[in-house]
Amino acid sequence: MRLTRKFIAALVVGVALVALVQSYLDVRRERDVFSKQMRAEATALGRALARGVADVWSRDGEAAAREFLITATSQSERLHARWIWLDEERGHDAPRAAPESLAPMKEGQVVTIRDDNARHALLTYIPVDVPPPRGVVLPADAPEPRHGGLEIAQSLTEIDMYTSDSVRNEIIGSTSAVVIAAALALLLGVMFIGRPISRLAAKARRVGTGDLTGPLTLAQRDELGELASEINLMCDRLADERGAREAATAQLRHADRLTTVGKLASGIAHELGTPLNVVGGRARLIADREVEGGEAVDSARIIAEQAERMTKLIRQLLDFARPPALHKAPINVSTLGARICELVATIARKGNVELVPPPFDESLRTLADDGQLTQVLTNLVVNAIQAMPAVGGKVWMTGRVVTQSPPPYVGGGSRAWMAIDVRDNGAGMDDATRERIFEPFFTTKAVGDGTGLGLSVSWGMVREHGGWIDVASTPGAGATFTVYLPLGAAEGVAA
Ligand SMILES: Nc1ncnc2c1ncn2[C@@H]1O[C@H](COP(=O)(O)OP(=O)(O)OP(=O)(O)O)[C@@H](O)[C@H]1O
Ligand SMILES: [Mg+2]
Repeated sequence: MRLTRKFIAALVVGVALVALVQSYLDVRRERDVFSKQMRAEATALGRALARGVADVWSRDGEAAAREFLITATSQSERLHARWIWLDEERGHDAPRAAPESLAPMKEGQVVTIRDDNARHALLTYIPVDVPPPRGVVLPADAPEPRHGGLEIAQSLTEIDMYTSDSVRNEIIGSTSAVVIAAALALLLGVMFIGRPISRLAAKARRVGTGDLTGPLTLAQRDELGELASEINLMCDRLADERGAREAATAQLRHADRLTTVGKLASGIAHELGTPLNVVGGRARLIADREVEGGEAVDSARIIAEQAERMTKLIRQLLDFARPPALHKAPINVSTLGARICELVATIARKGNVELVPPPFDESLRTLADDGQLTQVLTNLVVNAIQAMPAVGGKVWMTGRVVTQSPPPYVGGGSRAWMAIDVRDNGAGMDDATRERIFEPFFTTKAVGDGTGLGLSVSWGMVREHGGWIDVASTPGAGATFTVYLPLGAAEGVAA
């Protein structure tokens, strides 16, 4: 929902700015209109008064004109008019405005001045031509007549009150607009952006963890709706590809299994030779009646023992060859090691290789699929046997619990792992070979001896268990393969 919040914040700031500018312009315009009206009112009234004053002045003299002025304006509270002489700087008839600002009056113009001083008023000056008293003719050299006029003062308090009313109304209006815009944006943002994006993010997280199920259905037909259907399509394609990849991996694993079965079978066939000879010889002795009584019974017992030995060998091979269903269960690593040593004992003997199984340790447990872990360790031991020179050698298996950080592709911090080492003192390998051994179909063996599948298949299986395989080798001094498996899940589980 963070995106929605940002979107709403941006919208609210935008609406607030627009409302602010709009309010400012509105208030200014209203104030201008009001002040123009005041001026117009003062000018209109002033002109009418001026005519009246001029008339009375010319008819009845100055005193009557002043009297007329007082009488004419005495009723008005908002407006005060008085007589002024432009040439008077001090005294009762001096104008409140500075004399230089009133100069245009001498040309008959009306002057309006805002007086922001103590009286806080709008002053309008109307020039009035003071005529000489009726019947008096001025001589040509008479001094120039004095300039006089009316000063009309209007209090600005009213316009201030009007302005503050406007400002208050604008603030209420703008705040309401911002609140309504924010509420609407919140509602629409959550409905059309916040919730769909949260659901898309949850779906993406599930896809990230490998869960491709549960298509995402968004009712909206906008870009987010399109994105949801694209993600669904992508999941379908990924699921198809994953299915195909899993099928290919299963085939490769099966192929690798069959290769190992073939190797083990050739060893077992060799191994079966001795017991078959014993069984055949003893059976012939009994059939030819060369042994009788107690000796015949001994021969029959030996035949039964050898048959049991052969059955066990074949059973082990069959168990290995049968593709098991994946099932993770607690496994004791030392028991498994001993079983693998038995399984490959025949080919080890063929190659003069001594197998050293891990000493039994009850605490060496991990949670793994028995069939897959058997296939992985068998591949490693068979590789070790095949890396021996003709004179033979030794292969050690050990299990241990280590605490260490996994490589970056596994991820996570330092923790406890089950480490299973398969160490040999065979030919080892150089760096160039070591870098490629986990590639599918990479082999250094002759055609027919190796397919190059063993390590790549093993790598896939161990990665599926959440672990990895490490290898250390020096040419001529053997190699050590270490399988790391997560330990945590198996803790406290009986082997
Ligand atoms: N213990 C080892 N010592 C020396 N080289 C080894 C060892 N294990 C594996 N290698 C090298 O790694 C290569 C790849 O091994 P991998 O098990 O994948 O295939 P392969 O053994 O050649 O054939 P496959 O196992 O399919 O029969 C081997 O050909 C060999 O060169
Ligand atoms: Mg191999």
